[in-house]
Amino acid sequence: MTIPETNMVPLDTISAKLVWLRDRYWRFGQEETLDDALLDLFEVDDEGQMTDEPRRDPLTGETEGLMVLGMSGGGKTALLKRTLRANPILTEFSIDEPGNTLFITVPPEATIKKLAEIILSETGYKKIDPRLRAADAWEMARHRLGVVGICAVVIDECHHILRPGQGRDVLAAIQALKHIMQSQHPVALIIAGVPALRDALLSEPSGETYRRFSELHLASIRPGTRSARLFETNFRKSAEILGLDVDEADDFPERILFATGGQIGKSVKLAKNILRGAVTRQRDTLCLESAERVFRKSNVQHTLTPFDTAPWPEVRKELEAMGWGP
Ligand SMILES: Nc1ncnc2c1ncn2[C@@H]1O[C@H](COP(=O)(O)OP(=O)(O)O)[C@@H](O)[C@H]1O
Ligand SMILES: [Mg+2]
Repeated sequence: MTIPETNMVPLDTISAKLVWLRDRYWRFGQEETLDDALLDLFEVDDEGQMTDEPRRDPLTGETEGLMVLGMSGGGKTALLKRTLRANPILTEFSIDEPGNTLFITVPPEATIKKLAEIILSETGYKKIDPRLRAADAWEMARHRLGVVGICAVVIDECHHILRPGQGRDVLAAIQALKHIMQSQHPVALIIAGVPALRDALLSEPSGETYRRFSELHLASIRPGTRSARLFETNFRKSAEILGLDVDEADDFPERILFATGGQIGKSVKLAKNILRGAVTRQRDTLCLESAERVFRKSNVQHTLTPFDTAPWPEVRKELEAMGWGP
């Protein structure tokens, strides 16, 4: 389903409102940064528009990589998926849909061989011999990317394959990533994960793989920044579409960002839960008491919360004095 982002009319049924709210992506200002970083991975045409041809080093033929880093719940997956919906060039590939970008999510226990098998299977190659060696599985996987016309591979939760442990070969995993960028069929590589992903790549003594990646760090939303203003706009606009009155003096967006330490995923989730609570109870106004109840459901231990009904500057001062953290 595509969700129009502008000129929206208020929705009338509860179920329509809840579906709309659930699927709504909240821009937070990193969309342009990601688009900009992606532009560098591909050739541009004479209008300066990105093409689907990965940029290759003229001497080695190798492509480039981008590393998207952020805390868990920091909004990496949501941002990448949203980019694949919005970017005019990169579209998500699946066996049933045409597309040029393969999006892989690494399961927590996956080994490097498992990842190659996932690529094979996602690209429609089902006759995988379990006795296949990891190196051969990777060679087939890289070949497969060419066969189905992939120009970009996104490996989400990539830190999982670089975790040390028994029977796990971190160096081989790092090199498998490098080989994707050295493949005969050129593909740009985007990897996403927690900051430990970067550290893991740096553990390769030659640093060869690490230097092929540029980095995009998703930071938390700090008060007073453009991201904070975008968050506020998203919140107000969503409330309006849902038919909820919000008193500006209640400072909901600031309280929510404070409550979650500005972590994008957590902030959006809390904001949506507060809005959802009001919609399901058929309220027409948002109040701090019910926001506090929503917050307490997953944060029972606090005596004073950011949703206390006193004016926000006072509440914040008191919370800060208590050394409050989410
Ligand atoms: N910009 C956003 N708009 C709407 N929901 C978001 C946004 N960013 C994150 N979320 C939601 O927050 C949660 C955590 O985000 P996610 O992208 O999974 O984080 P990460 O991949 O960094 O761990 C998810 O439920 C996701 O849908
Ligand atoms: Mg994720």
